Amino acid sequence: MDELVDQLRAILGHGGVLDAAGDIAPYGTDWRGLFDHRPRAVVRPADTAGVAAAVRLCAASGVAIVPQGGNTSMVGGAVPGTAGSQIVLSLARMNAIRTIDRSGLTLEIEAGVTLRAAQLAAEAAGAFLPLSISAEGSAQIGGVISTNAGGNNTLRFGNTRDLVLGLEVVLPDGRIWNGLRRLRKDNTGYALRHLFAGAEGTLGIITAAVLRLAPMPRSRIACFCGLPSIGAVLDLYRRLRDEDEAALYAFEYISGTALDLALRHLPGARLPLERAAAHYVLVELATTRRAGDLGATLETVLGEALDAGSLDDAAIANSEAQRLAFWSLREHMADAQKRAGASIKNDVSVPVAAVPALLARAADMLAQHYPGARMAAFGHIGDGNIHLNVIQPEGADPARFEAQGDELMERVNTIIADLGGSFSAEHGIGLLKRHAFATWRGEVERDVMLRIKAAIDPAAIMNPGKIFEP
Ligand code: MLT
Ligand code: ZN
Repeated sequence: MDELVDQLRAILGHGGVLDAAGDIAPYGTDWRGLFDHRPRAVVRPADTAGVAAAVRLCAASGVAIVPQGGNTSMVGGAVPGTAGSQIVLSLARMNAIRTIDRSGLTLEIEAGVTLRAAQLAAEAAGAFLPLSISAEGSAQIGGVISTNAGGNNTLRFGNTRDLVLGLEVVLPDGRIWNGLRRLRKDNTGYALRHLFAGAEGTLGIITAAVLRLAPMPRSRIACFCGLPSIGAVLDLYRRLRDEDEAALYAFEYISGTALDLALRHLPGARLPLERAAAHYVLVELATTRRAGDLGATLETVLGEALDAGSLDDAAIANSEAQRLAFWSLREHMADAQKRAGASIKNDVSVPVAAVPALLARAADMLAQHYPGARMAAFGHIGDGNIHLNVIQPEGADPARFEAQGDELMERVNTIIADLGGSFSAEHGIGLLKRHAFATWRGEVERDVMLRIKAAIDPAAIMNPGKIFEP
């Protein structure tokens, strides 16, 4: 190991390798604080050739590599699975915006560019990157693609995978696959880019990508609504979708419990409505059309929902600052819940029509087995994706509550399976959901994935312990 670290330093220079305890500690701990496995060292190559050289050295020594971007995984996907023996490869220094093709609407960037910087680069060129997640200020594009993150615009533009036109990947043997094509059509055998997207760094290290952009909307409008029931939430969703599906860019759900926690734990947060409701949604409509009158569309639909008894109250943002304030409340849900104590996160999806059954059955299950636990559901309800997060009972011992995590998640997953859903909608599997993967994905599916893993990474050095139990 010491020899490997010296060799890595010889090719990457002193700034390219960290191994002092204080320097490497943050790379071993995930955002949620669930895992703390210190790496042996952290390498920070500045270019693809440096990544390939580092991978070749690690491969020659049989040492495991953990690719890491912004370290914002919700499932421990980017920290070592064991302490002291793995090398974290940080992509943070590979942060160049390579090219923007304004007429073809594509963006080529390196893996270490934050999602926020990528959005701004697109915007500066007069285009729109239709990908937005709560962690976008820190999450880096390589990790976002490796997670196949979803987020707020999935209902209109798809998951990250749907935006990936091309990739550059360093394989576990150190070879570089240059698949940085920017084509809308490229039907040439297996779609390798789709294999690496969502592979959680277990098949190789994404070093650069070509993303599909969209035209910049000419206008957008956001609205914060209070609703009496989850049925009413879905009713409003269907009305908006049927009225103008192309304009519906986001439809985000916040339960009353989740909103109360945000108001309690986020400094300066306030309810954008005059009175509290049982459920809330944040709607965003946008259009590239010159004549598109989003305000009229929204008012028509809200008026109909009000008449039908599906809406309590609504506030339409009257300035860009207010639109951003609505979004800030939504995007800080995870922070608020972190401050409220131990939480067990279930990032689940079901067919949209089954969301009311999911919430009702989960609430019954929690009342029966975990009295006092708070179900703080929120998420991307237009995709049937609910963050069914369960917060510890007030005043309870956090460690004792966390110890029930696997059992609670399995109870949720049983309900999910019964409703035809998925135990991981957008956060992936990482270290945290391996058990669910083994239980809820059939033998054939697991076997095919394990064969793919063995074919591409026969020595099992690439992010070992993620997705599959070692
Ligand atoms: C979100 O939608 O805010 C994220 O996926 C975070 C979370 O689930 O806590
Ligand atoms: Zn989410």
